Parts: sequence; structure tokens; C-alpha cells
Amino acid sequence: MTRVLLRASGTGSRESLAEYRSVGGYSALESALRAASPQGVTAAVREADLRGRGGAAFPTARKWELAARSSGNNKYVVANGGEHEPGSRKDRFLISSRPHLVLEGMALCAFATGASRGYLYLIEDMEDALASAQEAIDEARSGGYLGANILGFGFELEVSIIKAPTTYVAGEESAALEVIEGAESGEPRKAWPRKKPPYPGQAGLFGAPTTINNVETLAHVPGIVRHGAEWFRGLARAGGAGTGLFTLDSRVARPGVHELPMGATFRELLYDVGGGPKSGRPIKAFLPALSSAFLPASALDLPMTPDAVRQAGSNLGCGGVSFLEDGESVIPRLLEISQFFMREQCGQCPPCRMETNTLAAILKQVAAGEAGEYGAQIERITTFARGKGNCSLIEMAAAPVLSALKLFPEDFSAAANRA
Ligand SMILES: Cc1cc2nc3c(=O)[nH]c(=O)nc-3n(C[C@H](O)[C@H](O)[C@H](O)COP(=O)(O)O)c2cc1C
Repeated sequence: MTRVLLRASGTGSRESLAEYRSVGGYSALESALRAASPQGVTAAVREADLRGRGGAAFPTARKWELAARSSGNNKYVVANGGEHEPGSRKDRFLISSRPHLVLEGMALCAFATGASRGYLYLIEDMEDALASAQEAIDEARSGGYLGANILGFGFELEVSIIKAPTTYVAGEESAALEVIEGAESGEPRKAWPRKKPPYPGQAGLFGAPTTINNVETLAHVPGIVRHGAEWFRGLARAGGAGTGLFTLDSRVARPGVHELPMGATFRELLYDVGGGPKSGRPIKAFLPALSSAFLPASALDLPMTPDAVRQAGSNLGCGGVSFLEDGESVIPRLLEISQFFMREQCGQCPPCRMETNTLAAILKQVAAGEAGEYGAQIERITTFARGKGNCSLIEMAAAPVLSALKLFPEDFSAAANRA
């Protein structure tokens, strides 16, 4: 298995500063501070084609450039560990096992964008990750890798932890900024997404340019700076770049967080690495992430790159891959997903509230065999709500339902006509 982000030993226990340094840890930061310019670090990230791993696959360097050129004296960097998507555990695993990799990525991002203050934003129930992150921050500060005058180069970065509420929307970047501002001002705020623009890179925390990246995205940066963009691109296949973390649930023989080259196929992930469905039954369809569209088994050989998955009509999201087996109706799974989105929408935007409530109600009726014109109702509500929220939860909630309706109309009619 490729191991760039995960510990070579395969253990999930916390890597100490000494252990991290023994495998070249913090040498990327030291060499950047010694010999590179902020623009040089961003150029390496751009040439590496690093794309965000928080779900939208946005080019990381573009985000950094925006923050770097926006004016403001107190810029910020935020590592987003608001991971609350059922089926994804990669960020909590990374912070628990390799916190210094994330801190070094944050420091390089801060250097590139001109930030001097950083926040590690972690879900309040991630006890292992929270403890690991605090220990690593303390170690890094005593080792001279955080704080004032880092390694004697006059560069400053203070990092502290902010606890995110255990809700899905709290992971959305502008909701995260609300939570952080609330925590810092002593007046807690709701995790409600802001209207955009302005984007965080223009006006984020306290109105200052802020770069917010997923925990995994930042963890890729030390490797890029240390080994170069070509090395990073060379790790991947099929037009991807780097490696990626993917989470498999307990329905496969080998569940957990796995690292694969970007561009490896879903079949490799689910069968070669995951060991295939425990039941031994063939896969009927799969979901690249809970908030994406179902793909049929015929797409198992699709390369796992954001572009290839998007072209196939779905989204790689944060890589918590799940599946349906042959003979398994999609309806119970859809009911579960739609109830998750109904519960987790934050309540701020009426169209989102309306859509998530309606989808959950329709699915409940279908599952109970009481549905009427469910197809037309689903079309109507998703078309009405599309693009209307402050964040993209509206699209996330619609994608699994719309794709299932197209791929498995027989599952809907079998359930709906049972009564
Ligand atoms: C409802 C919702 C929940 C999200 N949850 C997370 C999350 O838990 N972690 C994360 O990194 N990004 C999450 N995102 C995406 C972030 O808004 C943002 O795109 C991401 O943190 C950017 O980092 P990246 O460019 O490194 O991927 C979420 C987005 C939405 C709409």
C-alpha cells in the first residue's frame, strides 16, 4: 500500500515530534524558511496540482494566491477537521496519528499566504484527535516549530484548537469561521454558513484574509515542498495528483482509512484493498461519498480523481465510499441518507429546510409503501431548491436521491406499490 500520509508502521497511534523528525519531519518548513519565497511555496503547490480534499476539490494554490494578494495585516490559516459525514474518518485518523504533518502543512500555508495565526478546527467529540493535536502543538512550540521567530527565521505562527459542534454544517468553511469567531470573542455563534462572496481568502476571520483547507489537504503540503511537484504528481495515475485517503465501512472485509494513489479505481479500493463485501455478494452500485450521486457497478473501474468522477455524474467528496449489494434495495439507504440531511441542515435557509424535509418525508412514504407521485415530487422540490442556499448542502442532499431514482426506478416502484 502507498503510504505518504499514513504512518509507515501502519499504526494509528500518535507520532511524536522525535518520530516525525526522524522521517524528515519539519525539514520542508526549515528549507522553505531558509531558501524559498512564499510565492515559491505556492508555485510548488500549484505545479503539484494539489486539489482540496474537503469535498469540492478546489485547486489549493488558487485559494492561497487569493489570500496572499488580499490586503490585511493579520491573516489567518484554518485546518478544517469538522469531519461529520457518516462514513468518513480520514481527518480524525490523520490528526490522531500524524498531527505534526498537519501542523507543518499549516505552517507552510501560513508562510505562503502571510498568516501569523492558525486554528485547528476539530469536532468536539474527537477525543483522541483533540488530545493528539494539543500534545503536538505543545511539542512543536517547545521545538521551535511554532510560536514567535520560528527556527530563528523571524517567521511567527501561533496555532490553537477550536472545538467544532458535532453537526454536519459546522464543517462548511464559512460556518467554521462563525464558530471560531464566536469562540474567540466569548460569544458563541451558530454554525451557520455565510453568503459568498466575499470568500474567506478575501474577508474571512474578523474580516481578514483567511485560508481554510481540509486537514488532509494541508498534510500533503510538506511532501510537495520537500520532494517537489513532479514527485507528487508521479504518485498518482490517470491524470490525478498525489495520494488520497479513503474510508471504508464495516461492510467490507478490511474497513478503515486507506491510502491509495489518486487515479486508482474504485474496484481496487473496494476489492483489492478493502477485501470486497463481507457477504461475498457482488456490488450493485456505490456512493463515492454520502453527499454524492450513486454510480452503478459498471463504474467500478473509474479512476478516483475529482475530474473523472465528476464527468461520470458524481463527486469524489471526502472519500467515504459505501456500496449496495446485488439484491439490496436502495430505499432503506436513501431513507437513512435523507433523514441525515434533514436532521443536519442548519435551519438558516428556507429552501434547504423545505427540500431536506420534503425528501425525507417522500422517502419515508416510499419505504412504507404509501407513496403516490414520488418521482414528480422529488423533481419539483429539488429543482425549486437548486442553488438557493448559503452553502451546497441543498445539492448534497439531492444528489443521492436523484441518481437513485434514475438508476433504480424498480426499487422505488417495488417499495411504493407494496401496500
Ligand atoms: C455542509 C457542508 C459540510 C462540509 N464539511 C466539511 C468538513 O467536515 N471538512 C472539510 O474540510 N470541508 C467540509 N466542507 C467543505 C468546506 O466548505 C471547504 O470547501 C473545505 O474545507 C475547503 O478545504 P479544501 O479546499 O482543502 O478541500 C463542507 C461543505 C459543506 C457544504
